[in-house]
Amino acid sequence: MIESNKNAHRHVITGDIADPIQMNEESCSVIYGEASLTMHRDEKKLEILKDIYRVLKPGGRLGIHEISLTTNELPDGFGKQMTREAIRATKHPIWIMSVEDWLKCLIEAGFKIEQQFSRPVHLLEMERLIEDEGVDGAMRFMWNTMNNSVAAERIMEIKTFFCKYEKYLTGNCVVCRKPE
Ligand SMILES: C[S@@+](CC[C@H](N)C(=O)[O-])C[C@H]1O[C@@H](n2cnc3c(N)ncnc32)[C@H](O)[C@@H]1O
Repeated sequence: MIESNKNAHRHVITGDIADPIQMNEESCSVIYGEASLTMHRDEKKLEILKDIYRVLKPGGRLGIHEISLTTNELPDGFGKQMTREAIRATKHPIWIMSVEDWLKCLIEAGFKIEQQFSRPVHLLEMERLIEDEGVDGAMRFMWNTMNNSVAAERIMEIKTFFCKYEKYLTGNCVVCRKPE
């Protein structure tokens, strides 16, 4: 279902990115995606990227930020084991792709890569929490977590997963463009 909320400054559309995007061809200048494509299988990622390409104007840009594998050179079975643990920790299906495969996938969808950079994954670390949420927000987060044992357990599971696989994971940022 699509909900639309129009006012003078913005037009909000709520929908499922796994469906064709409810926007006309070549109607957007910039699209940004943050950590949602990884929640889709690799074939579906490509399908969604092709649909994003469709709705972008020629010369339009796509920016993504996705947790990614630093390498495809992993021991046998390692990727599958890591994916199983990621799904168990986050309680959501996720398919983590490598930086290299993201670039291939974007190129296959038609994009020209303009910039790629990686940052260490510091999810749920205090310094990053303060950076993202401010001191008040980080304190509120800690307080709420300490007072909710179910949430605390889940957060610890997620943090344990990211610490265990820290060496193999990176925050992958890519900016790419639909050619004119
Ligand atoms: C890990 S969170 C990313 C955090 C998000 N960028 C934010 O700022 O809150 C992943 C988000 O992707 C959304 N998502 C995953 N699959 C989606 C889909 N098929 N359609 C729309 N949203 C989706 C989820 O609902 C979730 O909010």
